[in-house]
Amino acid sequence: MATALITGASSGIGRDLAILLSRRGYNLILVGRSLSRLETVLPKLSHRRVQLLALDLSKEEHCSQLYRQCRGQVDLLVNNAGFGLFGEFTGTKLDTELNLLDLNVRAVHILTKLFLRDMVKQDRGAILNVASVAGYLPGPLMATYYASKAYLLRLDLAIWKELKKRRSRVQISTLCPGPVDTGFNRRAGVQFAIPGRSSFWVAAYALEQLEKGKRVILPGWEAKVVAVLGKITPDSLLLEGAWRMQRRKEK
Ligand SMILES: NC(=O)c1ccc[n+]([C@@H]2O[C@H](COP(=O)([O-])OP(=O)(O)OC[C@H]3O[C@@H](n4cnc5c(N)ncnc54)[C@H](OP(=O)(O)O)[C@@H]3O)[C@@H](O)[C@H]2O)c1
Repeated sequence: MATALITGASSGIGRDLAILLSRRGYNLILVGRSLSRLETVLPKLSHRRVQLLALDLSKEEHCSQLYRQCRGQVDLLVNNAGFGLFGEFTGTKLDTELNLLDLNVRAVHILTKLFLRDMVKQDRGAILNVASVAGYLPGPLMATYYASKAYLLRLDLAIWKELKKRRSRVQISTLCPGPVDTGFNRRAGVQFAIPGRSSFWVAAYALEQLEKGKRVILPGWEAKVVAVLGKITPDSLLLEGAWRMQRRKEK
């Protein structure tokens, strides 16, 4: 039986991926900072071959501990835990931004490297990294968050190419959603400028596309449009558009 490790599995996209993967018969390893929040997911799962791990992945030692505890068991790694922060770069707290970078970038980087090395040796396994359409744009008023997601997108694309060149059967895919209705807004201190998708729909679409071997997964027309505009629009126009969109997110 295959095992999936999902970070940030106590709510939103991570929780719904856990529910859908349990329906597909996966054993689950679910990670979040709070055991009691992870436990709320248990009644929604189709079976109980589930390990819950309370770890703060913004701490490097917790990432290493997760790898030590789970190495050799993981067929699908979903690096989903992450958060956003709203505000002008000069006004946002440095500590919060460094914590964001530790979780959104460093933890994903560390876990991807450690688990991918094992997967490559065995020539099997898959990694799904949850980035965002934000990764296609510069994000005035959420500069650090957007940059963190651009890092993931570029990292994954490069790894994808390396895997192809070595004819590996290991897969890496990047999920880039637009707005999704989750706990994200509360923590980021924003309200969406356009209505969000349901996290269940996004999770279902992500798994469907992962199974098709998609390199980058863009759920919904709005994510696809942003990704195309991000590639073809001059920076000056992109920045003005992004600024206007971001201003509407202010609470
Ligand atoms: N919602 C959106 O509009 C949207 C759009 C594009 C991309 N995304 C990305 O989707 C991913 C999931 O976010 P979501 O929208 O589902 O938000 P969410 O509902 O806030 O879920 C975040 C999850 O991450 C966990 N988490 C937070 N900090 C953690 C830490 N330091 N260590 C371990 N786990 C931690 C949370 O659990 P605890 O708080 O219990 O630790 C929770 O389970 C994020 O990477 C986000 O950037 C979201």
